[in-house]
Amino acid sequence: MQIGIDQLAFYTPKTYLDLVDLAHARGEEPDKYRIGIGQYEQAVIPVTQDAVTLAANAAVKVVNETNRDQIAMILFGTESGIDHSKSAAVYLKRLLNLPDNLRAVEIKQACYGATAGLQFAHDYVRLHPDKQVLVIGADIARYGLNTPGEVTQGGGAVAMTISAAPKLLNLDNETAFRSEDIMDFWRPLYRTEALVDGRFSENVYIDFFKTVWLDYQRQTNRTIADFTAFAFHLPFTKMGLKALRAVLPEADAEQQKQLKTNFEASRQYNRRVGNLYTGSLYLSLRSLFDNAVLKPGQRIGLFSYGSGAEGEFFSGTISEQFDAQQSRQRFSEFFSSRQQLTMAQYERLFSQQLPDHDVLLDVTHDDARFVLAGIKHDQRQYLDRN
Ligand code: CAA
Repeated sequence: MQIGIDQLAFYTPKTYLDLVDLAHARGEEPDKYRIGIGQYEQAVIPVTQDAVTLAANAAVKVVNETNRDQIAMILFGTESGIDHSKSAAVYLKRLLNLPDNLRAVEIKQACYGATAGLQFAHDYVRLHPDKQVLVIGADIARYGLNTPGEVTQGGGAVAMTISAAPKLLNLDNETAFRSEDIMDFWRPLYRTEALVDGRFSENVYIDFFKTVWLDYQRQTNRTIADFTAFAFHLPFTKMGLKALRAVLPEADAEQQKQLKTNFEASRQYNRRVGNLYTGSLYLSLRSLFDNAVLKPGQRIGLFSYGSGAEGEFFSGTISEQFDAQQSRQRFSEFFSSRQQLTMAQYERLFSQQLPDHDVLLDVTHDDARFVLAGIKHDQRQYLDRN
């Protein structure tokens, strides 16, 4: 029985910053950002969006009348949680009007949370092939104005349904993972911006990738020759290129060309959105699906990394029913309809944070279906404007 990703949708607000403007404002060479970091643009998330609304705006695209009653579980990966206690998944369940007889849980391990959800979902559907699991990765990546991490900010959400006989990717059962207590990137409870040891975090990412890739090959007897493409967690797209370069020497010249071409396809969307933390690997997978030439049966390798740290290498094959036409079209329309911000507008939006008391927010500038309208009696007030 094949189990895997049946649907994969993405949402981010329309407001964005061109990173050439950021480079000029911060006294850096634009090429450092565009080539050295590998980012062109960055989504800027207004205060009227949080992890819950970002997730709801993505999830409405994959929950419909056909699968609504099959969804047995929501596994919500995020490191931008809105409550120390109550899970974002429960809010999401209500906004999507899903039935009460399901499990709704939040998962946290930095950028790895959605992958944990995906793997748990895979195991669950194997036991319950008539059910589906809704897996979310929703985050707002914030490092702060005038920090080295600023160019690698971004945000948004991916929503996936995991099912039997999936339309996109059949997941292989073999997977290799590793966890270790490491301080490369973290966000103490009292901070809205992450703390990071940038260079160290890049080294740990590569170290984890090499280790789990080797472990995966030992388990499966597969080699790089079995792969058409790799999709990586992309905190910034140059990071994925560094990981790809670590394994390219294992491939012959013809295959190196193919892997490089497919890597370019896999980073197109991420270059323009920025880091999504939990969702980044899956936005990259969406970008690969939409912008590469793929055939049923071809094998894709996926590397997930969450600082702190957890890494996992797993794989899947393109489904027989695979078709990315509509998604490609929707993304192209989305990117051409975005609203570019000036530096002053970006800095204002970035600095607008929720207060720790009741507030009414102006939602008129936010065109999303689901918005955060304020806080009342210490409870977030969500609106579905459908
Ligand atoms: N033209 C072309 N390239 C240029 C250039 C120019 N004019 N000027 C500089 N560069 C290159 C540099 O040579 C360098 O390339 P390499 O990395 O290949 O050596 C690159 O641009 C970046 O330059 P710096 O190293 O000087 O950049 P920096 O010190 O300003 O910081 C960063 C870069 C460490 C990535 C920083 O943005 C950061 O801390 N980001 C957040 C942390 C992060 O994303 N870590 C990734 C691993 S952790 C993870 O994956 C989890 C997660 O989501 C956070």
